[in-house]
Amino acid sequence: MSDLPEFIEHLYEKYRLLDSGSLASYIPELTKADPNWFAISIVTKEGEVFQVGDSQEHFTIQSISKVFVYGMALEDCNRQILLEKIGVEPTGDPFNSVIRLDENSKRPDNPMVNAGAIATAGLIKGSSATDKLNRMLNMFRRYIGHDVFIDAPVFMSERATGHRNRALANLLLNFGIIDNNIDEILDLYFQQCSLVVNCHDLAVMAATLANRGINPITKQQAVKSCYIRDILSVMHTCGMYNYAGEWAYRVGIPAKSGVSGGIIGVIPDKAGIAVFSPLIDKRGNSVRGIKVFEDLSDEFDLHLFDSPLEKCSFLDISKHSKESMVIGN
Ligand code: DON
Repeated sequence: MSDLPEFIEHLYEKYRLLDSGSLASYIPELTKADPNWFAISIVTKEGEVFQVGDSQEHFTIQSISKVFVYGMALEDCNRQILLEKIGVEPTGDPFNSVIRLDENSKRPDNPMVNAGAIATAGLIKGSSATDKLNRMLNMFRRYIGHDVFIDAPVFMSERATGHRNRALANLLLNFGIIDNNIDEILDLYFQQCSLVVNCHDLAVMAATLANRGINPITKQQAVKSCYIRDILSVMHTCGMYNYAGEWAYRVGIPAKSGVSGGIIGVIPDKAGIAVFSPLIDKRGNSVRGIKVFEDLSDEFDLHLFDSPLEKCSFLDISKHSKESMVIGN
């Protein structure tokens, strides 16, 4: 087994020049990203930090937000009510698919595709649009451990061009999944996608999920621990869209990607992993991100179904220095 700091440095060098994929362009502001940005961050449940590359570079969280807003909706509504509105079935369809709502229930298939995420945003409680946004920002603040803000140009860009999401919202309204505050619900959805994070933040958020909802740095409870299994289940089956099956097979880590180039992965009761590189493939997943997760999973036996007897995980931190490592910038 390799030493973790050395191994992530090796992965950084190995994939730094991989330039396949392209920047997301359907949200015009996202084309301003630098295709060279690349970072790998790992935070253990003990709060140790290992990272390499552009881990402090800011970008918008995009679809990775869906995981955390789903957790909030579970707390706001409870599991049963949520299940009546949004399923938990993988689709095999692209993230922005307009073609399906479940034939009988008319529910979106799951909360990770856009239709399901818009329905989820529609279930967030609050006395006004501002109150809902503030509650959502507070939720993100608990996961990240510091103040958070929204990238206004990305929000405006997505709001001005999100015709497909608007069509989905109308479909959801037609079937009674959301109420007729379409503009307010879509604004909240676009705002959650425009939350500003860096790769280190994403790793802390993933580590919070790994640590039963408790932020390992601040020790604050970000989400009730009873909902962690719901969140990780949908990440595992639906988090990588129409690559979810192959990801589960090859990588075996509950994960979620976003079109700005982030991917988070959760190793339950151990650590959170985040990779950021904005060049994405046609399914909307970061090209370098997939490579890094595949290699990490292989090297450290992180696949959920690797035999526990054979596991020689880096996450047994007693094998490593107690010092946290920061490599590069
Ligand atoms: O709804 C959208 O199109 C974006 N705000 C989020 C999409 C996204 O990140 C999909 N992920 N791969």
